[in-house]
Amino acid sequence: MTQPSWLKNAVVYEVYPQTFLDTNGDGIGDLPGVIRKLDYIKSLNANAIWLNPCFVSPFQDAGYDVADYCKVAPRYGTNDDLKRLFDEAHRREMHVILDLVPGHTSLQHPWFLESQKGKDNPYGNFYIWTNGWGEKKGSYRFISGYGNRDGCFMINFFYCQPALNYGFAPADPEYPWQFPVDHPEVLKVREAMRNVMKFWLDMGCDGFRVDMAASLIRGENAAAGIRELWHDYRNWLDREYPEAVLISEWCNPSDAVDAGFHVDFMAHCGESGYTKLFRAEPERISNSPFAGGHSYFDLAGKGDAMPFLRQFQRHLKHLGNRGYVGLITGNHDIGRFRGGRTLEEMKPAMAFMLLLPGIPFIYAGDEIGMDNVFGLGNKEGSYNRSACRTPMQWDASGHAGFSSALPEKFYLPLDPSPLRPDAATQDQDPDSLLNFVRKLLKLRAICPAAGNDGDFRVLFGEENVYPVIYGRTAGDSWLMVAVNPGGESVKASFGLPGLRQYRVLSASPGVKLTAAEGAAEMEMPPASYAVYIR
Ligand code: NOJ
Repeated sequence: MTQPSWLKNAVVYEVYPQTFLDTNGDGIGDLPGVIRKLDYIKSLNANAIWLNPCFVSPFQDAGYDVADYCKVAPRYGTNDDLKRLFDEAHRREMHVILDLVPGHTSLQHPWFLESQKGKDNPYGNFYIWTNGWGEKKGSYRFISGYGNRDGCFMINFFYCQPALNYGFAPADPEYPWQFPVDHPEVLKVREAMRNVMKFWLDMGCDGFRVDMAASLIRGENAAAGIRELWHDYRNWLDREYPEAVLISEWCNPSDAVDAGFHVDFMAHCGESGYTKLFRAEPERISNSPFAGGHSYFDLAGKGDAMPFLRQFQRHLKHLGNRGYVGLITGNHDIGRFRGGRTLEEMKPAMAFMLLLPGIPFIYAGDEIGMDNVFGLGNKEGSYNRSACRTPMQWDASGHAGFSSALPEKFYLPLDPSPLRPDAATQDQDPDSLLNFVRKLLKLRAICPAAGNDGDFRVLFGEENVYPVIYGRTAGDSWLMVAVNPGGESVKASFGLPGLRQYRVLSASPGVKLTAAEGAAEMEMPPASYAVYIR
């Protein structure tokens, strides 16, 4: 299996198109807006963007309900605009990753419009229909009484997201509407999705973030079925598009890379370690059932970083050089990384997250510390996710430089806080969070130990203990990151064999490191961090 060569240095910036930059004054962000900000994204030392779905859609789940996989939604622009985005990104040695939603369509996709007419049409089996509306369905989620077809269709997420039919592993004879994964009818769906990927790759796209990647096949041996499916796609990509990346929304990098993905996120779903770093406590909104308790990155000093670090190390060991953990600051589904912290309190969190091995994914606005905006209600199926989807704050003006539309026409309202951060102001301040993030990401590019591949060791870390300190090496290059997010001063003694010289890249005032004869001692004031390199 091959790896796209650019992944070694990839740093990804996630762009939520509807609230990034509006250039035509309709209150909704658009592709020309993304193109206009490519230099800003590059200035962060990011070299790839992941663009959330920008395709024709009735927008009942903000575009994750696709009605035409091969056409840009008019509110964002045209296919030519997207092609221009690919070209402009490539001119800057950047890459563009599209969001692929293979598990379901909207109710308005032409495949579904045909399928709901009845069994006997070319799309009759593109979705999972029972044979009659009253038939036994097992434990899956179905909608009955929709359209003309006498049957119920299975859904993948919301009621309006009918599941595409990739088959069952194995098909259960008790339910005659289940097809095996190699049935010619379900293989048609597999080919249709391959053609969607081919369409965009041929136009210049650099790969896909795959929505709900583990959800496509059902049944007792679903895991084996899903591995086979993604290996099939990956082998094809390796042959035809070896520089294209496949990133999964799976939340288990070990399983996802075993299934053929290059990258998977350690995120809020699945295991809880990531949530416990930043998003525990209800006011930090997380969609994770593990969100109780305290965050490690919190002045209260009652959190635990070890669940994350243990899971992270387990994944690193399992992956070796076969794939990467995606290190997300946040995304469009979970609470903002800022989560009510001060901008200074964000620095330890950023230093911790952005210097780990793997591939960083910065969710647009996190680099300036945009915060959650609560109480916005539902927008296109967002519900509590509206809080993290508000317009990007580009400057200190009333419209925040997002759009020239009247504020009531904005896709979602701006953060009303008089203290809301913005990119233009932070750009001018050498000590801003924005410039701190730029510095950390630059370090990834110039210091091999800080790169995507350097190794990783916890130098000091215990259950419920502050600080946490990790070290990384690559050849002669060495890096150490220490963070004390808690509100008390702390000390740590730990072994540090072989260290002769080092320099402080960046540290909060008052941090003290004494290193001699293989042992080190650190003193760290409240909410502090330090980064050392050799
Ligand atoms: C995950 C996406 O990130 C989320 O926004 C969407 O609602 C669901 N998948 C369904 O596609």
